[in-house]
Amino acid sequence: MSLYPPLNVRIVTPRLELHGASDELLERLAPLVRAGKADSDPAPYDDPFWAYEPDPDVRVNKWLQGIWRGRGTVTPDRWRLHFVVMVDGEPVGMQDLIGGEFDTFGTVETFSWLSSDVRSNGLGTEMRSAILHLAFEGLGASEAGSEAGMGNVGSNGVSERLGYERNGTSWATCDGKPDLGQRWRLLRAVWEANRRDDISMSGIDECRATLGLSRR
Ligand SMILES: CC(C)(COP(=O)(O)OP(=O)(O)OC[C@H]1O[C@@H](n2cnc3c(N)ncnc32)[C@H](O)[C@@H]1OP(=O)(O)O)[C@@H](O)C(=O)NCCC(=O)NCCS
Repeated sequence: MSLYPPLNVRIVTPRLELHGASDELLERLAPLVRAGKADSDPAPYDDPFWAYEPDPDVRVNKWLQGIWRGRGTVTPDRWRLHFVVMVDGEPVGMQDLIGGEFDTFGTVETFSWLSSDVRSNGLGTEMRSAILHLAFEGLGASEAGSEAGMGNVGSNGVSERLGYERNGTSWATCDGKPDLGQRWRLLRAVWEANRRDDISMSGIDECRATLGLSRR
């Protein structure tokens, strides 16, 4: 058990588990980042700008610093929870949940990556389902958003599969260059109509207190 409650959160589905991204798990995941297995074509938005870094050691450092920054800047107005995706006890990627003025709006965003050798096998959909369970069931969210470049078939495919509706487009940068993105949103009522009963969670109450959630 960690002293820091978000690191004790676990979400368990029949295919995978999300574990709070402890340093021990990050060390086990680092070889995939070092080997370039977090990369993709087309590249995702600049959210994980570390993935474009060509030097493997610098890439790992930037990746770690981003996660530690997220851990160290949690406030009720802005937070980001980082999870390591575990399949058969092995780390294969990350799934993040991001809240901005969550107590007021109840909206969350997600971000994820999977090791390139395990993509297109349904795991992306499964880990998004797991994090949506935390958002809606665990934290009381009212809406989940997602955004990905038009050519990002994996991310857009996950959103479509899980019942998100298209929510316009917006510009973002991808490796420093402008790229038009597809925005998606999943309303709570749609999630409820399709909610799964085979996903379990632990460590939620202590995590809620760390995030300063009061009204939901
Ligand atoms: C986004 C990501 C996590 C999705 O994981 P995944 O395991 O590949 O996704 P899934 O296998 O669950 O596929 C989801 C849907 O997209 C489709 N899809 C996934 N990869 C595809 C591909 N290469 N070509 C065509 N369709 C694809 C699947 O067919 C599936 O649709 P379906 O269930 O209706 O058949 C993964 O692709 C990834 O790590 N990408 C790089 C990082 C990234 O871009 N992150 C998102 C930033 S916005």
